[in-house]
Formats: sequence, structure tokens, C-alpha cells
Amino acid sequence: MMKKILKWPTLALAALFAAIQFAGPEKTNPPVEAARTIQVNTQITPEVSAIIARACQDCHSHQTRWPLYSYVEPVSWFLVDHVNDGRKHLNFSEWAAYEPKRMRKKLQEMFEEVEKGAMPLKSYLLLHPEARLSQDDIQQLGAWTAAERQRLAEQYK
Ligand code: HEC
Repeated sequence: MMKKILKWPTLALAALFAAIQFAGPEKTNPPVEAARTIQVNTQITPEVSAIIARACQDCHSHQTRWPLYSYVEPVSWFLVDHVNDGRKHLNFSEWAAYEPKRMRKKLQEMFEEVEKGAMPLKSYLLLHPEARLSQDDIQQLGAWTAAERQRLAEQYK
């Protein structure tokens, strides 16, 4: 009797789990046009380029490495939402779309967010410990964003 009672909720949950596998939002990686990227439109250093690739690019570019677990609902829903939100706020693949003034602001925010430990997101670091930034990384990013902002300020007076 007890066994029977337990069986139904389990089956119902399994059925629900199976059903939502088909209901998730789409994982996209729109094509990257090199000419529009931050790598081509700034004087980025190899060090900073590596930091971005390692710690930011999954959520702030069209070069997201979707992990295997991201294909399982409801995880997928959560991750796609994060990536879409991240891209909306800052997109390294569409850097050329920003006005110079906006670029300067984004560069400033990049350093601010990293310096106060808000980026990369904590939930991301749990599964991607390699994305953790050292003091040296943060300093490199700070120096580079400052130099790039200066360059933009001089170029677009
Ligand atoms: C796991 C996904 C994820 C990673 C990794 C990540 N971000 Fe974000 N980022 C987001 C999301 C989501 C938002 C928007 C919501 C928010 O501000 O929390 C955001 C917002 C930002 C903003 C604010 C932009 C604005 O318009 O206010 C900046 C700047 C930023 N991220 C920089 C970075 C940098 C630099 C890195 C790498 C060191 C990074 N992020 C890594 C998800 C991520």
C-alpha cells in the first residue's frame, strides 16, 4: 500500500521532468563578426584578452561555451536567462555597436564590477573555478581599461 502511494508522485515528477525538457528557451550563439568584436576594436593586450576569454566571455559574448548540463531543464532555463541578460548589458562580440562614449562607460564598469567582486557572478565561479580572478588579473584589467578609456577620449574629443 505504502509503496503504491509513493510511486505515483515519483512517476508524476519524472513525467514532469521529461515534459519540461522540451519547453526550454533556446541556447543561441549568433555568428561572430570579427570586425565588430572588442578584440579588434580596442588595443587589447594578450593578457586582458585571456582574462575576458576565461572569465567573462561565456555570458558577455556570442562565444558561449554551453556546458553539457546546460541542456537539462530547468538548469537550461536559468543559464539561458543569465547569458541573455549578460549579453544585453555588455556584449564583447558587438563592441562596435557602442558609441565611443558608451565604450568608455562600459570599460569603466568592467573594472568596477570586477574590483568589487560582483563579476564574474558567484554562481558561475562555483562551477568554473578557473574563472576566478587574481589580484594581478584585476590590476591588469584596471590598467588596460584606463588606458583604453584615455585612448578613446583623445580620439573622440
Ligand atoms: C555567469 C554569467 C556572467 C559572467 C561569467 C560574467 N558576467 Fe557580467 N553580467 C552578467 C549578468 C547576468 C549581468 C546583468 C545583471 C547584473 O548586473 O547582475 C552582468 C552585468 C555586467 C556588467 C554591468 C553592465 C551594465 O550595463 O550595467 C558588467 C560591466 C559586467 N557584467 C562585466 C563582467 C566582466 C568584466 C566579467 C568577467 C570578468 C563578467 N561580467 C562575467 C553575467 C555574467
